[in-house]
Order: sequence, then C-alpha cells, then structure tokens
Amino acid sequence: MEKREQIYEGKAKKVFATDDPELVIVSYKDDATAFNGLKKGTIAGKGAINNRMTNNLMRRLEEKGVPTHYVEELSDRETVVKKVTIVPLEVIIRNISAGSFAKRYGVEEGIVFDEPTIEFSYKNDDLGDPLLNTYHALALKLATKDEIELIKKYAFMVNDLLKGFMKEIGIDLVDFKLEFGKTSDGKIVLADEISPDTCRLWDEKTHEKLDKDRFRRDLGGAEEAYEEVMRRLMGDK
Ligand code: TMP
Ligand code: ASP
Repeated sequence: MEKREQIYEGKAKKVFATDDPELVIVSYKDDATAFNGLKKGTIAGKGAINNRMTNNLMRRLEEKGVPTHYVEELSDRETVVKKVTIVPLEVIIRNISAGSFAKRYGVEEGIVFDEPTIEFSYKNDDLGDPLLNTYHALALKLATKDEIELIKKYAFMVNDLLKGFMKEIGIDLVDFKLEFGKTSDGKIVLADEISPDTCRLWDEKTHEKLDKDRFRRDLGGAEEAYEEVMRRLMGDK
C-alpha cells in the first residue's frame, strides 16, 4: 500500500489517495471546530484517540453485521478505509435530550426518551447543515428511498450496539452523528468516525461530560475527557 497525494481536507481529517483506486487513507488531526467552523481550536492528542476509538468501534460493529468502510489501522493517526462517495446526510440518533434538541424544543438536557429518535441534516457547510426529513432528502436526490431505509436500519443497529459498548464502560450514550458512504459497487456502508467529537458521552454515575461539549462550551478538560473514554474503552494504552 502506497500513500499518494492528499485528495481532501476536512475540519478534523485529511484524506489521501493510495495506489489502490478502491482504498484511501484517512489521517486524523487534533484540530477541533464547533458551530460550523466559527469556533476553532485544538484538543491535543485527539487525532490519535479518535482514530483508534473509531477503529475499535467499527471493527466491533462490523462483527455484529453493520457494514463499515474500515479496512486497516496503519498508525496512531492513520487508517486505510474503502473509498466511498459520502451520502450528504448527517444521521443523528438521540437517547437523551441534549444540544440542539433541547434548544429547539425548549426542554432541559437529560430527559431519557422511551424510544430513540432519528433525524437528518443536509451535510452542507454553506447552508449550515439544515435539518431535513426523508421526503426532502428524496426531493434533493441525496439518496434513494431504499438507501434511506437501509441507512435508518443501520443507524438504529449502531445505536443498540454502541449503547451496549458504552454501558460496559460506565458511559451513557446520549446522542451521536453518523455518516454513510457508497462504495464503487453501490453498497451502503458506515463511514466517517465514531468518537467524542461525534457522540455525547456522559459518565453514568456523575453525568460528567466526556465529549466535545467540553470544547464547544468552554468547560475545560477536553483532553482529559477524551483520554478517559479511551482508557475505559481500550485499557491503559
Ligand atoms: P446537536 O445536539 O448539536 O444537534 O448534536 C447532536 C450530535 O451530533 C452530538 O453528539 C454531536 C454530533 N454532531 C456532530 O458530530 N457534528 C456536527 O456538526 C454537529 C452539529 C453535531
Ligand atoms: N464539527 C462541527 C463544526 O465545526 C460542529 C460540532 O461538532 O459542533 O463546525
């Protein structure tokens, strides 16, 4: 496997071509942004944590029947993944009220739902990732009906599995955002990352925030929070 030119740089990751047209290398950065890039900073060590945590979770999800883009971890920050076309939908699942849900509906954070919710945003930074429903997604031809159904099915599967993985390490999975991609042969797979950048993770006993809200809300201790999740998930490595 040979690493070639950079083909994309996002807010938290870079993507490199390889000598295999079906594979790319993602490289995780320590850069952190919030509020559609308005707030910028770094969380030291985040890139390595998010890389290793995402890979650990994707391997376990794959074993349980959720297809993912994961191929092979190369180093602390770099991973080989299948080259996909990202479906421009941010898929958000919530188990407990927080963040934009609490704000939009005027409720407190921390209400445990009887059933998880799902919502979609149109992945478009210029528009500020507007919320949309599946009819809007179809009208905009962001995905087909079948693809959206499959994405919903996988997203709820991920929620059930991830809630269990987090419970094992004393963490409540509040909410999270997933992205899916389409491989060259048209298969829908889980892509992007699953990390404290993209999940709200609360300690089950103290309700301490162990995720990017520490950065978004200037709570301090973001580095320590990411390290704590990593330590619980993977042991003292
Ligand atoms: P929200 O409450 O701000 O809508 O966020 C819901 C979840 O999605 C939360 O776990 C953080 C995650 N998220 C992202 O991963 N990327 C984003 O751009 C946003 C806005 C949220
Ligand atoms: N990563 C997103 C952004 O920059 C938002 C977030 O995670 O809060 O802007």
